[in-house]
Amino acid sequence: MEIRKAVLPVAGLGTRFLPATKAQPKEMLPIVDKPLVQYAVEEVESSGIPIAVFVTGRGKDAIEDHFDVSFELEHMLAGRGKEQMLNQVRSISKLVQMIYVRQKNPLGLGHAILVAKDLVGDEPFAVLLSDDIIDAQVPCLKQMMNVFAQYRGSVVAIQRVERKAVSSYGIIKGQPVKDHRAGNRLFRITDMVEKPQPGEAPSNLAIIGRYILTPAIFKELASTPRGAGSEIQLTDALRRLLQKEPVYGYLFEGKRYDAGDKLGFLQATVEMALKRPELGAPFRKYLKSLKI
Ligand code: UTP
Repeated sequence: MEIRKAVLPVAGLGTRFLPATKAQPKEMLPIVDKPLVQYAVEEVESSGIPIAVFVTGRGKDAIEDHFDVSFELEHMLAGRGKEQMLNQVRSISKLVQMIYVRQKNPLGLGHAILVAKDLVGDEPFAVLLSDDIIDAQVPCLKQMMNVFAQYRGSVVAIQRVERKAVSSYGIIKGQPVKDHRAGNRLFRITDMVEKPQPGEAPSNLAIIGRYILTPAIFKELASTPRGAGSEIQLTDALRRLLQKEPVYGYLFEGKRYDAGDKLGFLQATVEMALKRPELGAPFRKYLKSLKI
């Protein structure tokens, strides 16, 4: 019951970032100097998961190239004695083992996960959406793996959001689980609603882009009809799953940035830049000089 594989769906069209995403994948947009997808793969590695399964699509080749060995670049950096940059570039291609599969039509997140079925096989697995960057002492996925190790049921990451923001998320209804290890962070989910109006939301606990799923989800995805936006929604399949086996919501420790949204992307850029040792001080000085 070990988690050995993480699925990274990266086949979406990224329409909220047009025109930047017309000819390049949203997942390659950088926060400071690192593409969004690299933050996600680094979380996979630091959680101890050895294999990343990418669900890609047309126009996403840059992602594969990014994690591949770049012989010409390495040769050039070595020739110029740029050791530090060389090590940085090399380390990217050594992060974890990568497998790629194509989603031929972007029919939704649920469909993207279903495309990875044969590569995942009959074992529990993680899902990460690279839009969500999570800054945490213990990687968010690792925290969830600890919950999974104890409860053996699917776990979705949740966070409290403002009431008026519930209509942008899947919202859970759940019973707190009393557990000294998880503190007050764990909920047994009894229902979930995709993007409810604030008046109709069962809570303000919103599902964000980290999941540990049992392989039973594949059967549910395969029989889930197309829902909102004519897409196969993961939330719909999870709702069916929780009728059959326990599904948990876990309030992770750490700060999440929604980098799939322009404002969230800018917030992540500013806060990550302030944390960089070489950039933090001059950037802070610059921001203060703006007097806004
Ligand atoms: P989003 O809902 O953010 O969609 O997908 P998107 O296409 O990336 O972006 P917008 O909303 O048009 O701006 C969440 C994640 O699921 C993947 C996306 O690549 C993203 O990582 N996804 C979505 C797929 O892999 N396939 C799909 O059919 C839809």
